[in-house]
Amino acid sequence: MTDITELIDIENGRLSGKIFYDQEIYEQELEKVWKRAWCMLAHDSMIPKRGDYLQTYIGEDPIMVVRQKDGSVRAFLNQCRHRGMRICRADKGTAKAFTCSFHGWAYDLAGDLIQVPRQNTAYPETFERGDFGAVKVPRIQYYKGFWFGTWDKDAPDFEDYLGSAKYYLDGYIDRWDGGMEQVAFHRWVLPNNWKFMAEQPTSDMQHSEITHISAATVLNKGSDAADRTLRGNDPVGRQFFADFGHGGAWYGEKGAEVPNTGQAMQAYEAQPEIAEMIARRLGDDREVRGHLNIWPTFMLLGNYTIRVTHPRGPHEQEVWAWTFVPKDAPEEIKDSIRRDVLRTFTPAGMFEADDALNWEEMQHILKGKVARETGYLYQMVGAPIQWDEGCYPGGSSAHVFSDNAAINMYANYLDMMTSDSWEELMEKRAQHRMGLPTTPAAVQA
Ligand code: FES
Ligand SMILES: [Fe+2]
Repeated sequence: MTDITELIDIENGRLSGKIFYDQEIYEQELEKVWKRAWCMLAHDSMIPKRGDYLQTYIGEDPIMVVRQKDGSVRAFLNQCRHRGMRICRADKGTAKAFTCSFHGWAYDLAGDLIQVPRQNTAYPETFERGDFGAVKVPRIQYYKGFWFGTWDKDAPDFEDYLGSAKYYLDGYIDRWDGGMEQVAFHRWVLPNNWKFMAEQPTSDMQHSEITHISAATVLNKGSDAADRTLRGNDPVGRQFFADFGHGGAWYGEKGAEVPNTGQAMQAYEAQPEIAEMIARRLGDDREVRGHLNIWPTFMLLGNYTIRVTHPRGPHEQEVWAWTFVPKDAPEEIKDSIRRDVLRTFTPAGMFEADDALNWEEMQHILKGKVARETGYLYQMVGAPIQWDEGCYPGGSSAHVFSDNAAINMYANYLDMMTSDSWEELMEKRAQHRMGLPTTPAAVQA
């Protein structure tokens, strides 16, 4: 097995390209990361009625998420226990039961096997349907409209897994009395390793002023804040990171005018009664925008595109991106948000195309043996790390540009990849103060 500790040097902010390329490491990730982490499965608005279902993935494993008759939600592996075909081949829909299209085994909404053709005449009496229900996702958790699941019975409770990232996540998903709903969905495949994208909302805001300068200039035309931020010397903002690899960053301090392509959403939020509602729900102090990633790949971007990526081998990932809107917003606001996301963070979106080009190139370059061994650098300090500073829980830096959250993400990744159990992982994380006490940034702090 590859010794991954040779490939990740947290103290000096260095990574080997191999972690984005090697098949063996990828197999290890499926076992140590994806079978262990909490992953987003669905939002209430995607399966509102009893019998509603959708297919998703945890890593490469196909998962059915189904609204039960009593309103609860269950999740199970979309793999027939007979010969391994998909139990359900539709992406989503409404059903009373699911019948495998290969030999006709049928499962109920909970994934239990309810019918086997020719059971009475062709199978032995000892055959028990109860032994062959679909493999259940053993733990699922509801959190503010979203359903999450993990394969690992020993994983910490979901809110403990979020840790201080809960405060920032709530800033996105708990703003409105009426909740949120998804109004659009896009999915596409990119030819690059899944960690390149995960890293970006976690930490890398600095690429914006180079990679996205053309798009940002067009999209934010006429905004003084955009001019100041994108062409200023030292943009203000903050980056934070939390326990199990989560992170995020945003431009601007409290009350500052910040560029955000979601102008319709901003105008909506600025209305006095809406602003008052948000302040009542989240408190006056909370100013969170920009991007956020809940490890491994539950991403929330500034204009309410929310996405999950599914790994597809070391060289490919599938992106599933939804547009969310406040459920109670007027139709024209919802439509305006939808069009804004379409312009920015969909396959045809300007920011998306900018980013995809970088990731594709990086992955392509890793084919080179020397290139793979050269390594990547993560030493941007931004500002000293502070813990639980002011109204910002967790580790944070009072600067929007920093590699600290990325290093924290890879420190967590390293701990996951080298631990055989959650117990061992928790010990390692605790030693690292759930963060990165020995990075160059921390030493300077
Ligand atoms: S594989 Fe599903 S019924 Fe045979
Ligand atoms: Fe980007």
